Amino acid sequence: MGSSTFLLVLFFPFLLLTLSHAATFDIVNRCPYTVWAAAIPGGGRQLDKNQTWTLTINPGNTSARFWPRTNCSFDSSGHGHCQTGDCGGLLACQADGSPPETIAEYATFVNKDFFDISVVDGFNVPMEIGPDSGSCPGGRPSRCSADLVELCPKELKVPGGCNSPCNVFKTNEYCCNDGTCTPNEYFNFFRSNCPDAYSGPNDDQESTFTCPQGTNYTVVFCP
Ligand SMILES: *[C@@H]1O[C@H](CO)[C@@H](O)[C@H](O)[C@H]1NC(C)=O
Ligand SMILES: *[C@@H]1O[C@H](CO)[C@@H](O)[C@H](O)[C@H]1NC(C)=O
Ligand SMILES: *[C@@H]1O[C@H](CO)[C@@H](O)[C@H](O)[C@H]1NC(C)=O
Ligand SMILES: *[C@@H]1O[C@H](CO)[C@@H](O)[C@H](O)[C@H]1NC(C)=O
Repeated sequence: MGSSTFLLVLFFPFLLLTLSHAATFDIVNRCPYTVWAAAIPGGGRQLDKNQTWTLTINPGNTSARFWPRTNCSFDSSGHGHCQTGDCGGLLACQADGSPPETIAEYATFVNKDFFDISVVDGFNVPMEIGPDSGSCPGGRPSRCSADLVELCPKELKVPGGCNSPCNVFKTNEYCCNDGTCTPNEYFNFFRSNCPDAYSGPNDDQESTFTCPQGTNYTVVFCP
């Protein structure tokens, strides 16, 4: 192999790292109640009203998710429980939370970021994720600001949240495992109240949001 090819092979992983950027996420609680923020990667912490948690996602992490937890109680070692979004009883999450939970998703590939609010695991707290001003010209936030706990169809209602039809009924009609289902009344409920959020396997491009890689974001509970 030629020496330039050899150098390329040798430095390719390093090259990939230098091509991606760290991104910072300011997670802000604007709710009139305490929220326990969770992040994978990142862990979690309590956010009282108006508090902000600033997290840096390193270049090696090409995806992240953030979600709110409610009505938690933890002991001094960080063990306890939350009514919604609980991640195995840990304050600093190491695994996904249990539904229902509103989720902000982030992924970055080559030179583009993708982000959105997802309600595929249901809803617990109104939420928004969007680029910080100036870093993504023309970019706009993905938001689900309706109170879907209050509006929730009674079949999906649980304490502190509104579950997804897939988690409640566990059938192909609602989970769309084989990709052949059509939008149903529950999909339409989430879709009509939160058109900017990703609502399920039938959802289209309207709920895909992009920015250049290196953009920083703000995640807001109760925007
Ligand atoms: C939270 O911040 C907003 C705007 O910065 C302010 O109007 C509001 O009074 C603050 N609320 C509390 C509880 O500190
Ligand atoms: C995030 O990146 C760190 C190293 O930068 C790695 O240890 C960790 O496993 C990654 N986490 C995820 C969830 O990919
Ligand atoms: C916490 O639980 C109480 C009692 O069940 C309930 O009234 C309240 O709405 C819950 N708070 C949140 C933020 O879900
Ligand atoms: C993102 O935040 C980091 C750390 O504060 C900063 O160095 C960087 O310039 C910011 N990126 C943009 C595009 O504003």
